[in-house]
Amino acid sequence: MKIPKRLQPLVEEGLIDTVVRQLMSGKEATIYVVECGDEIRCAKVYKDAQQRSFRHAVAYQENRKVKNSRQARAMEKGTRYGRKMQEEVWQSAEVDALYRLAAAGVRVPQPFICHEGVLLMELVTDASGNVAPRLNDVELDTALALDYHARLIRQVVLMLCAGVIHGDLSEYNILVDGDGPVIIDLPQAVDAAGNNSAGAMLERDVERLTSFFSNFAPQLVATRYGKEIWKLYEAGLLKPDTPLTGRIEPEHGPVDVDAVIREIEIARKEEEARQRYLQQLEM
Ligand SMILES: Nc1ncnc2c1ncn2[C@@H]1O[C@H](COP(=O)(O)OP(=O)(O)O)[C@@H](O)[C@H]1O
Ligand SMILES: [Mg+2]
Repeated sequence: MKIPKRLQPLVEEGLIDTVVRQLMSGKEATIYVVECGDEIRCAKVYKDAQQRSFRHAVAYQENRKVKNSRQARAMEKGTRYGRKMQEEVWQSAEVDALYRLAAAGVRVPQPFICHEGVLLMELVTDASGNVAPRLNDVELDTALALDYHARLIRQVVLMLCAGVIHGDLSEYNILVDGDGPVIIDLPQAVDAAGNNSAGAMLERDVERLTSFFSNFAPQLVATRYGKEIWKLYEAGLLKPDTPLTGRIEPEHGPVDVDAVIREIEIARKEEEARQRYLQQLEM
């Protein structure tokens, strides 16, 4: 196909030879299948801030690292340079997370580079070489659901051991290749150690997984892996192979007040960040 404008800089740099087709256009990004030499890869073009839905810009910014204090000040003030920096921090967050997770043995697409707001990475494919389906589009029975759930819980543990929480994990951000689940879509990944909402986000990620797989394996409804994992992590006891039970000691009787309060706190922070951001865009 004709080279889309946003991919032109990568063609000029020799990072992409041809653009095969557009794969998806989502809320945050447009995805293309591209050729690089004799390899097929995936190019994720981030939408700019105005076009992005805002769910994602939040608590993540807490503790996001910037290179120097001039950049930090500019970002706080919301100057044009500051907004550009903020975009760059956002855009490089996913490639950073992918490198970190791949090194920790998490099943993610292999990243190559992030250039001019485009992430170039491995195209995840199924056993016959076609683009891998999302978990949501795969037929599951009880046994497979239990198997994938267990494997994904282990991936979440591996990620946390590497200091990363996905922050938007769901059946739409997991692909299934010939060997099983692969985790994608990480621009909002959260630093587990430096973020006040980290525990709540981890629990939300795990609860979404559990609720999806419960449709095929109802015995999962009663499990509490998220809380168990976070407790172990906070106590400094979580290792990649720590055995898990999915059970925790009941703390609050039938209603988990803490979890409710944390959900409210996440929503409040998201709204605050959204308002701040909209104000900056108007300036
Ligand atoms: N590396 C990849 N290999 C194959 N398909 C991908 C890859 N990355 C993304 N996709 C496809 O593109 C869709 C959107 O990508 P994603 O990273 O989730 O962006 P967003 O949801 O923010 O638009 C995914 O649901 C998946 O179907
Ligand atoms: Mg997605």
